[in-house]
Amino acid sequence: MAVDAKPHGGIGESIKRREDGRFLVGRGNYLDDHQLPGMLHMVIHRSPHAHARIKSIDTSRAAAVPGVIAVVTGELMAQHNLAWMPTLSGDTQAVLATDKVRFQGQEVAAVIAETRAAADDAVGLIDVDYEVLGAVVNPEQAKAQGAPLIRTDKEGQKDNHIYHWESGDQASTEAAFARASKVVSLTTHYPRSHPAPMETCGCIADVNPATGKATIYMTSQAPHAIRTVFALVAGLPEQNIRVVSPDIGGGFGNKVPVYPGYVVATAASLLIGRPVKWVEERTENLISTGFARDFHMTGELALDDQGKMLALRVHLDSDNGAFFADAQPSKFKAGLFHIVTGSYDLPAAHVTADGYYTNKAPGGVAYRCSFRVTEASYLIERLVTNAAIELGMDQAELRRRNFIPADKFPYHSATGWVYDSGDYVRALDLALEKLGYEQLLAEQREKRARGELMGIGLASFTEVVGAGHGADFDILGIRMFDSAELRVHPTGKALLRMGTKSQGQGHETTFAQIVAEELGIPASDIAVEEGDTDTAPYGLGTYASRSTPVAGAATAMVARKLREKARKIAAHLLEADEADLEWTRGKWGVKGSPERFKTIQDCAFAAYTNLPEGLEPGLEGVHYYDPPNMTYPFGTYAVVVDVDKGTGQVKVRRMVAVDDCGVRINPMIVEGQIHGGLTEGWAIAFTELITFDDDGNCIGSNFMEYLLPTAWETPKFELGETVTPSPHHPIGAKGVGESATVGSPAAYVNAVVDALAPLGIRNLEMPVTSDKVWAALRSKGVTE
Ligand code: CDP
Repeated sequence: MAVDAKPHGGIGESIKRREDGRFLVGRGNYLDDHQLPGMLHMVIHRSPHAHARIKSIDTSRAAAVPGVIAVVTGELMAQHNLAWMPTLSGDTQAVLATDKVRFQGQEVAAVIAETRAAADDAVGLIDVDYEVLGAVVNPEQAKAQGAPLIRTDKEGQKDNHIYHWESGDQASTEAAFARASKVVSLTTHYPRSHPAPMETCGCIADVNPATGKATIYMTSQAPHAIRTVFALVAGLPEQNIRVVSPDIGGGFGNKVPVYPGYVVATAASLLIGRPVKWVEERTENLISTGFARDFHMTGELALDDQGKMLALRVHLDSDNGAFFADAQPSKFKAGLFHIVTGSYDLPAAHVTADGYYTNKAPGGVAYRCSFRVTEASYLIERLVTNAAIELGMDQAELRRRNFIPADKFPYHSATGWVYDSGDYVRALDLALEKLGYEQLLAEQREKRARGELMGIGLASFTEVVGAGHGADFDILGIRMFDSAELRVHPTGKALLRMGTKSQGQGHETTFAQIVAEELGIPASDIAVEEGDTDTAPYGLGTYASRSTPVAGAATAMVARKLREKARKIAAHLLEADEADLEWTRGKWGVKGSPERFKTIQDCAFAAYTNLPEGLEPGLEGVHYYDPPNMTYPFGTYAVVVDVDKGTGQVKVRRMVAVDDCGVRINPMIVEGQIHGGLTEGWAIAFTELITFDDDGNCIGSNFMEYLLPTAWETPKFELGETVTPSPHHPIGAKGVGESATVGSPAAYVNAVVDALAPLGIRNLEMPVTSDKVWAALRSKGVTE
């Protein structure tokens, strides 16, 4: 068989996304596209109050609506021991409220009806008598003397405190602060934001009364983990549960948690014996599903008189909402926030964190970041820029002086991380070069002399992605490894099945490229499947940019296993000794005899037709990969803004983003991921906000209030790249999906802070809206 002359679509090729063909012609297969015979529809009744005792629930008017099959309340769920469920952080969460409601939008009851319209009509007729209680909407209120107690359901819970957690070394940090010549501090709030995926959450639960098999189609980023949680919570045998995640229209962390809707729909299908579909509306998604951030942080940076960083001290209060449901490894109470020392060679650091219950929806998801790394990156990068301003130093120079040197990797950080590789100076220098930093500084000096406000913002972030190692990272005790199963068919075409689940990241393209690279089978000959727990090998799913570092590694490893088997087959076909064969892409050949070779396709055919004696037939395998360490992508982002003194309006003139995610599998997809992240970062910095009034009413529950960016307002991005491979990853790749959202908010805000620095304004809170800037300018006497 001749080697395919077409491009292979191996690593480094910007081949087009193979999945887009079906999306572009409207042939995607999303949850709401599914219609099952006899399917019922579920709509949830939600609390209008943030905190209230439920005195009674009357479902009679709703039940009388034609087409209504059942109205489910917490009382009914309690009869089946399903009124409460465990959260991903080991707490409990109400499925349907029985005693109290604890946030606006909490699930109280559900209508199951023949049609969606009947369920919609009936849900408004459920009569709940509430006794309204005082609401707690931030950690400060949560810890105040006499604050209303939110978790009255938890025995021994006397206040609203959830956890205290520490990392680093207090004594060495205090000692370093004692000898510092300069201490710079920043108290800031990383506001609550929401992933707001284009497709909301939902499921179709189909419990077959004849076989007992529960098939649950759902918008889950982690179908296997959900299957195991369902088996444990509902007591169903795990082989009788099949979770299918079809095409998913964006997840960004929002589709990791188990939501009450999934549990109620499954229980309803089990009890009624018909499939039950539940699909959220936009407001339901925004007010009740996994939010992100909401960290109140204070950071202090100790420096010597040369601007050398000596130590970092950080405290944070986390606003967790009514149930501690953060989706994160169980060992780390504040996620991976303690990566807060960032890109800097800090000899000492101490981080303390306290979590609080409030009357807000639970969540704490890894919204386009590794668990809580966005908050950490924001804090350290804002602090460093503030330090440069206070020391009168150039902000690039202060960073360069304190970066972890390239020859110090693997680097052991003061809070316990081992960074795999990095070259921070290279990324910074490239960003400054692309920006034309020196000319811009000259322009800024001239503008300042004229009283104009122009700012240059930098952020040199470090991410930590690719959980596990499984000994340190787990979800509810399940180790964070991942998997790939590869079958090469007799004709040399292949099927790759993964434990991950793409939500738009292009896995069907990039994972095929890894196989193409390793085996020489063209990427177009490799089908990639994810998301069906009956067929895919067990995996922990896709979030926190873990797919490439973990499942991508599993893919390379399984391909290498098959390559070795193909070598035995090739030796047999060539009547040569295995040791005399050498691999060049797509073929095993005899060393020194270039005309004697067998292609991978030849070997695949022989694996089913002409095997050496004693060799197992077939060419397929599976690999479970438990990474030895996380990977540490990094980069420098640089932003130029002009601030209008009259209106406070901030115009982003330039945005230069230099990223290093190690070896890029598909540069075009990587750039797309970065564009998305930079857009989200821009929105968090300038427009998006979910907030609450004193009564706990959610402000930001629709797209008129929660301002998602469009192409119209998003700035133009100028991208750059450095390549520092991960030494432990089989193909040297690090994750990238999240980095731009992690790195960019600080760069945007630092640019505004830099513009306003001559006026002494440094404490701007996100979102940095025109009216906030306008008020800050007026407070400094700017009247123009
Ligand atoms: O876990 P998730 O897919 O969200 O994030 P990721 O592993 O960072 O990958 C996002 C997309 O970028 C995937 O299609 C990756 O295969 C691709 N990627 C790449 O082509 N090269 C890299 N070095 C990293 C990611």
